[in-house]
Amino acid sequence: MSERLDQLPQWEALGKHRESLGEVHLRELFAGDAARGSRYVLDVGDLRIDYSKHLITDDTLELLRELAEVRGVARLRDAMFRGEKINVTEKRAVLHTALRAPRDAVIEVDGENVVPAVHAVLDKMADFSNRIRSGAWTGHTGKRIRTVVNIGIGGSDLGPAMAYEVLRSYTDRELQFRFVSNVDGADLHEAVRDLDPAETLFIIASKTFTTIETITNATSARTWLLDGLGGDEAAVAKHFVALSTNAEKVAEFGIDVENMFEFWDWVGGRYSYDSAIGLSLMIAIGPDRFREMLDGFRLVDEHFRTAPPESNAPLLLGLLGVWYGAFFDAQTHAVLPYSHYLSRFTAYLQQLDMESNGKSVDRSGRPVTWQTGPVVWGTPGTNGQHAYYQLLHQGTKMIPADLIGFAQPVADLSPELAGHHDLLMANLFAQGQALAFGKTAEEVAAEGVPAEQVPHRTFRGNRPTTTILARELTPSVLGQLIALYEHKVFVQGAIWDIDSFDQWGVELGKVLAKRIEPALTEGAEVPGLDSSTAGLVAAYRAMRGR
Ligand code: F6P
Repeated sequence: MSERLDQLPQWEALGKHRESLGEVHLRELFAGDAARGSRYVLDVGDLRIDYSKHLITDDTLELLRELAEVRGVARLRDAMFRGEKINVTEKRAVLHTALRAPRDAVIEVDGENVVPAVHAVLDKMADFSNRIRSGAWTGHTGKRIRTVVNIGIGGSDLGPAMAYEVLRSYTDRELQFRFVSNVDGADLHEAVRDLDPAETLFIIASKTFTTIETITNATSARTWLLDGLGGDEAAVAKHFVALSTNAEKVAEFGIDVENMFEFWDWVGGRYSYDSAIGLSLMIAIGPDRFREMLDGFRLVDEHFRTAPPESNAPLLLGLLGVWYGAFFDAQTHAVLPYSHYLSRFTAYLQQLDMESNGKSVDRSGRPVTWQTGPVVWGTPGTNGQHAYYQLLHQGTKMIPADLIGFAQPVADLSPELAGHHDLLMANLFAQGQALAFGKTAEEVAAEGVPAEQVPHRTFRGNRPTTTILARELTPSVLGQLIALYEHKVFVQGAIWDIDSFDQWGVELGKVLAKRIEPALTEGAEVPGLDSSTAGLVAAYRAMRGR
């Protein structure tokens, strides 16, 4: 049983250090060190990570690294990479890093090397993707597949949906891709309403193959397909494939296990889009690009595994989050990509971070007395600037933010549209600058602003950001970014001593929904229902005329 985080001398030292910093301003920190903007920068693979606009000094970093050391972050990291069962509540290994290991690597779980199976599945995915892309795989009536519909939810949806958007400019534009997750029938309805079943492939993505939303949507998709193709059950084999760990349930559903792409219980749902769960993405961008993405993941895995603490980016970013949560009472973390293609990126990170670190007991079950994971939120800039950035700049809350951008516009933009790019990036840099340094009352007054308006037009600044800049948004860069965030989340879980790899918090709602559904459909009695929920159920039934 590890020592309580807030009892550690290193924690106390950080608290004292925070007090000594007082109201120190980024303006002072920059003024006191002309090299700050070049010293507090890390280059990892293709990522340039500027962390100079943080409320830290060399002492802060030293103390945070000491905390990581005493907390055994490196030990736990090595145990994860070795395949030890660090997901203690589910007694499972945590090996998403094995999904991008080279063919000749040896990583054992229960004495068995898992790497050959990883590559066998990748090869099977590549073969299938090539057949769909070339038209060699045809539907039941002999037509080639034009649309791929991925049905899944949570990690079986967010990853492929996000990555498809991010890498859109690399996709085969002859094919369409749609992602259905919500059990609201409207989601599937809108996804298939203009499709020809003869040209549609459904990918049913579910680690467990028991998730009610996915199975419900998959069942309705099968009905839609069979209705459209004259009811011949044989059509299912040509139009449905499954991505799962559960062959039995896949077969029970009626999908030939030949058409199943396997993964394993040591891949967490929110860490799974580089496994078979990425099949829709691989069909979209092709196997070579998919492998480039895996190379990007691996590059950051190796960096995290081997870089010294002083230059270890996931370690640093994880520690900064701990610092703000504990010592500045920051409750949320904004991820603000300056790329239209990253429109689903933050939504993806929400699951990665909040399902991993939204915990309030430690690994031995004791309540924690420190903050754990932040609320992660954000949308691409510059749109957010005209919506909620007001609060970032002048609100009362401390909201650390990541600003992410790319030097090159994507390749297939016309010269005119590519010309927007400098304006986009000027906004990114301007926001980091404004958030950090603000605008003093003196500066505002000097512009001749009437005295009564000065307080309204003053920007306190001192709002921390990390800027992540890459030359170009490539598949490899996407892999690098995701691995960076995966390992950042890992570091924080290790410091907070929580199990970042279980998700018991999603269970209760599932059980209660199952209990409530018969009350809605048949008016069944739900024993022990509270008066509020009972009233809502009754009102719902009345509105439905039941
Ligand atoms: O809601 C919890 C969860 O288990 C997520 O962790 C997971 O990504 C999602 O449901 C989907 O699960 P499955 O892939 O088993 O359908």
